[in-house]
Amino acid sequence: MNGAPLPRRAVRRMRPYRPPLEGRRRGLRLDFNENTVGPPAGVLEALAGLDADDVAMYPEYAPARARLAQLFGVSPREMLLTAGTDDAIHLAVDTFVDPGDEVLVVEPTYAMYRFYAERSGARVRTVRYTPQLRFPLARLLAALQRRPRLLFLASPNNPTGTMIAPVELRTVLRAAPKTVVFADEAYGEFSGTSALGWIRRHPNLIVTRTFSKARGLAGLRIGCLFTNPRFAAALGRAHSPYSVGTAAIAAALAAAGDPGAMDRYVAEVGRARTLLEAALDRLGIPRFPSGGNFVLVDVGDRATALVAGLARRGILVRDRRADFGRAGYVRITVGTTPQTRRLIRALEEIWPRG
Ligand SMILES: Cc1ncc(COP(=O)(O)O)c(C=O)c1O
Repeated sequence: MNGAPLPRRAVRRMRPYRPPLEGRRRGLRLDFNENTVGPPAGVLEALAGLDADDVAMYPEYAPARARLAQLFGVSPREMLLTAGTDDAIHLAVDTFVDPGDEVLVVEPTYAMYRFYAERSGARVRTVRYTPQLRFPLARLLAALQRRPRLLFLASPNNPTGTMIAPVELRTVLRAAPKTVVFADEAYGEFSGTSALGWIRRHPNLIVTRTFSKARGLAGLRIGCLFTNPRFAAALGRAHSPYSVGTAAIAAALAAAGDPGAMDRYVAEVGRARTLLEAALDRLGIPRFPSGGNFVLVDVGDRATALVAGLARRGILVRDRRADFGRAGYVRITVGTTPQTRRLIRALEEIWPRG
């Protein structure tokens, strides 16, 4: 334009990704797979208890790391605190991927894997889920023969809900010893399965958990990355020493101190998901099996009307057509039973019978 410096080529080439974050407060938030009731009371008390020094000082990490390591059953040398999973994704790319390296993503999936990989100048290659949205193990194994630097996997996967069976993950880890395998367990509390225990067996494995979903702290941005001490030290070198804020740490510790609250929420979502699935089946709305706190439906050319009809009734859900290249796919977060009953009543009004 006027000779001013241009952004890097990789940034200029990135596909834009702007999730619809604004104006959601008044609605029933079934659009971002968040906790729909908020964290336990102890979290808000811990935040209210922060004093002027807490706010004026840079955060102290060691005690929180020790406590959270204990919560997840690892040693502090096997974990890093991150500003949500996104920070962990960013960090894995920064630590292991040079410009031009290959990063493998199984799509459709969480958009931030591609986002950070493209931003770094990596070559992003993709393997697609099957049309039934099953995990494409055979095609993934074929793609791994190219030895990508980094493979992103999510189980349960967003937006499909697909879970990766332990035997499938083990096969991938063994087939790809030269690839860093990033197993994102953002919804792991809802599926009840985890590969966390495997970080001691597989030296190419990174596992992440977040406080954003079942624990209800999405607004504060905190999560944990788990891996072997050698990888953890390398990742720690590349990590900003200031990335997680004091309020996020205080909230995570308070949430960790009330595991019963999370367990109750997870159980409630499990019951509500069964209720929603039964209602979808009754209404004849095609859906996919899900291990997360959300259900993906495929309503074909009725998607726009469904999303708009729910929005008119104050219920926010996410149109995922961009992930699939055609209209129809809508992702619905599962909240509590009363919230799900409200959703079902709205669906019964909107969905044409017969
Ligand atoms: C698979 C997956 N990973 C990570 C995240 C984001 O997690 P965080 O809030 O910890 O950055 C999401 C959010 O939607 C997600 O779906």
